[in-house]
Amino acid sequence: MRSNWIIWTSSVLFAAFFTLVTLQPIDDFADLRGPYCEQIGCCTSRQDTCSKPIIGTLCYCDDFCNRTDVHDCCPDFWSYCRGIDLPTPLPPTTPRPPPEEVRSCFHEGRVFFLNQTSKNNCNECRCAQVGSSLEMLCERNVCLIEPDIVYNVNADFRHGWRASNHSKFWGRTLGDGIRLRLGTLQPQKDVMRMNPVKRYYDPASLPRQFDSSVNWPRYITGIQDQGWCGSSWAVSTAAVASDRYGIISKGKEEVQLSAQNIISCIPRSKGCEGGRLDRAWTFVRKYGVVDEPCFPYTGSNYTRCSIRRIGSLAEAHCIPPRYSERTGRYKVGPAYRLGNETDIMYEILRSGPVQATLKIYHDFFSYTGGIYKHTDLSLAHQQGYHSVRIVGWGEEFTSNGLQKYWKVANSWGTDWGEAGYFRIVRGVNECDIEAFVLAVWSEVDRRILVSNGI
Ligand SMILES: *[C@@H]1O[C@H](CO)[C@@H](O)[C@H](O)[C@H]1NC(C)=O
Ligand SMILES: *[C@@H]1O[C@H](CO)[C@@H](O)[C@H](O)[C@H]1NC(C)=O
Ligand SMILES: *[C@@H]1O[C@H](CO)[C@@H](O)[C@H](O)[C@H]1NC(C)=O
Ligand SMILES: *[C@@H]1O[C@H](CO)[C@@H](O)[C@H](O)[C@H]1NC(C)=O
Ligand SMILES: *[C@@H]1O[C@H](CO)[C@@H](O)[C@H](O)[C@H]1NC(C)=O
Repeated sequence: MRSNWIIWTSSVLFAAFFTLVTLQPIDDFADLRGPYCEQIGCCTSRQDTCSKPIIGTLCYCDDFCNRTDVHDCCPDFWSYCRGIDLPTPLPPTTPRPPPEEVRSCFHEGRVFFLNQTSKNNCNECRCAQVGSSLEMLCERNVCLIEPDIVYNVNADFRHGWRASNHSKFWGRTLGDGIRLRLGTLQPQKDVMRMNPVKRYYDPASLPRQFDSSVNWPRYITGIQDQGWCGSSWAVSTAAVASDRYGIISKGKEEVQLSAQNIISCIPRSKGCEGGRLDRAWTFVRKYGVVDEPCFPYTGSNYTRCSIRRIGSLAEAHCIPPRYSERTGRYKVGPAYRLGNETDIMYEILRSGPVQATLKIYHDFFSYTGGIYKHTDLSLAHQQGYHSVRIVGWGEEFTSNGLQKYWKVANSWGTDWGEAGYFRIVRGVNECDIEAFVLAVWSEVDRRILVSNGI
């Protein structure tokens, strides 16, 4: 047994030696074979004596050799001191700076030099001069994703929904989220006084569940991602108008309308800094918009209105639609308001998705599934308004009994929530979602309406 082992190890050593010899002149690597740290041990913080000679310089086995900008660790430091197997431990390249000049901060087990930074979620720490010494100074922002919220939402199933860490929100502040992921300014008082339309129907005849994206799969706009641009006011407006074009024309004017057209061409638009729904709808009603391929979404403040604000589709250099003789831009009738839960349901059932504006609390950003209801887990009082598209409703047995919900399309991409949608408690004006709900009639080409018998 033992002699076998000796034969095996010596042949491995011979093979390793042979490889070295064939690759490089043996002298260059005479020092490299070690062991180093295995002999002198691993040292904490900076200890310049914790070193060994290596190809004409010194290598070290202390914490200080583990820095971002230079490496002067001995080749076996990683495997022996850190238990990490690097494929090719490099020999040191930079001579170590003399100790008296080196001033540094020590933070979470690492050494940082002046102005070096480290980031923890949305907060940056920087090694900075404070009086005569160096100290690690850290920002104290509330982050968009806070692990505490995620943990506490999931720890109690009675919340009725689940939270998770969304990678694209990690590292951003709550302030960024409120400013750049929402973007609907609260309607002005006179707009809020707008009277809801009266509807005549039998509430008992409404189905228990309904989903526009199942009922009209071809006409319902997919989930969009507004990016870091406070444009929900325009994105939701364009999407609701698009859906209704498809539904009312029975597919003959199936179109995706351009949100960027609204963002960039409204006079005095603040772009990604948010906007008002009444202005967005008035703009689409008066001037109309072009389709998405003709003026694609950029989600940038700096996209200018590259088409003339008014005129026909041809004047805007847009390709005319295939199945309609339309020449003008896509317009809508006046926006109208829906007054209560059943009126909203009736409207969706009859004519398609509606636009709703809801108050967004901190916990909402981590939503990943279930029926949302805001909790008191938010870590800050910052809130914002966000416009979305209600596409349907339903009910589900949960730990809280039979729970009614709305199904809502958000504009944060399909990797957020339930494939880009969320469900929220229905019938109790949760987060004000039933307080200001709007719909419009899309101005489908008259010839199509006639041929569709409308
Ligand atoms: C220092 O070592 C730790 C492992 O102990 C590692 O995670 C870290 O990335 C290293 N730092 C640098 C700058 O290599
Ligand atoms: C560190 O940052 C300060 C302030 O930003 C600057 O004045 C100084 O020159 C920087 N020092 C080094 C060594 O980069
Ligand atoms: C959240 O996700 C980011 C990016 O994927 C990751 O770097 C971070 O460690 C995660 N945070 C937690 C608490 O899991
Ligand atoms: C909503 O208002 C309509 C009248 O527009 C009324 O018939 C209906 O009962 C109301 N529904 C609820 C849930 O209050
Ligand atoms: C748009 O401008 C605002 C305010 O100047 C800025 O905070 C934001 O980051 C900008 N957004 C984009 C997407 O450039």
